[in-house]
Amino acid sequence: MEPPFDVFGYAHGHFSEVAWMGQNTNHLYPKAAIRAAVQAAMREARYEEYPMPAGMEELKALLREDYALPEQKVGLTSGGTEALYMITRALLNPGDEVVASDPSYMIIHKFIELSGAHTINNEIYSAPYRLTADRVNASITPKTKMILLIDPLNPLGSGYPESEVRAIAEIAHDRKLILLNDVTYRDFADGHTLAAKTAPEETITVWSLSKNCGLAGLRIGGLMARGELFDRIWKYNTNDLGINVVSQWAGLAAMKVKNEVFPRIKKRTRMNQRKIKRMVDSIPGAFLPVYPSQGNMFVIDISATGVDPVRLQRELLEHHNVFLRSGTYLSPKFGSRFIRVSFSNSPKDVDRMVQAFPVALAKLRTP
Ligand SMILES: Cc1ncc(COP(=O)(O)O)c(C=O)c1O
Repeated sequence: MEPPFDVFGYAHGHFSEVAWMGQNTNHLYPKAAIRAAVQAAMREARYEEYPMPAGMEELKALLREDYALPEQKVGLTSGGTEALYMITRALLNPGDEVVASDPSYMIIHKFIELSGAHTINNEIYSAPYRLTADRVNASITPKTKMILLIDPLNPLGSGYPESEVRAIAEIAHDRKLILLNDVTYRDFADGHTLAAKTAPEETITVWSLSKNCGLAGLRIGGLMARGELFDRIWKYNTNDLGINVVSQWAGLAAMKVKNEVFPRIKKRTRMNQRKIKRMVDSIPGAFLPVYPSQGNMFVIDISATGVDPVRLQRELLEHHNVFLRSGTYLSPKFGSRFIRVSFSNSPKDVDRMVQAFPVALAKLRTP
């Protein structure tokens, strides 16, 4: 048995040497605008005061404009994570069912379970590597309360075509179900459809500035929903005095330049994907289930190599300072088959990753 290894402890302990490709963070957002906003907030000692409890109106207006959802209420939370917790806490009861998938972003499933509800996990580790309206329909029972639609999907990188989003949103509308549309990775997609456009009354859109704007450490995200649904959720807001003021200043600065800077980030992210694909294609027994990814991550299936992704994660981190994540935390059923890599990183990080990966894998392969 491998002794336990604290990946986060190791990675943070070697912060500046590590290629951070394990948590879908974004290292390409221009730093100057963010730095100036953070410094201005500090200079004015904004941290001495509580922020506006409801958050900066200018930031919320920019978000409403970005999503083109002018009718919706916007709530700022400490990362999308806090919004996800509030939503599940507010809307689910013991015995309720949520239509979801495996693989998935399992932290949401954990929140669902905490509310006493449980997920119906459609196994999607085969083409098209995402939910379909037919599968959603087939999973609905009298106990179903919610559909979880993560688009683009962490960890696989699959994106939903417009027709599928609409069809799933219509199911939610017709069957009076809540549609939880987590769009954390939306900006990396070629084209993206918000479920709220089809089912505005039933949809809650969860957004984040962690991945698109590279603000993961500042913990800023939130939700959007129509009036009454928003109010039902917001009653459970734990941050009654408002979220971190410095994060809001940084978020505002980031949102002001997003349209201008994002095409470059997306282009670099796609170039990085291609580089990683070339490396994976050269390794017997490894393949990419989803390519191109519509997010800033995808998974590398290594099941045919016989290598345990947890051991590969450790080998890459300890001996190459390359941080990827084993699939085991992203899929109870399929997680031992893959490792996840994110690639909104500098070319230097990506080069290090593509050099280290075959070496680490070869070392762990049993002859
Ligand atoms: C699908 C999805 N939703 C939400 C989050 C949470 O993001 P944050 O709390 O940093 O905004 C993540 C983070 O990885 C994610 O992958």
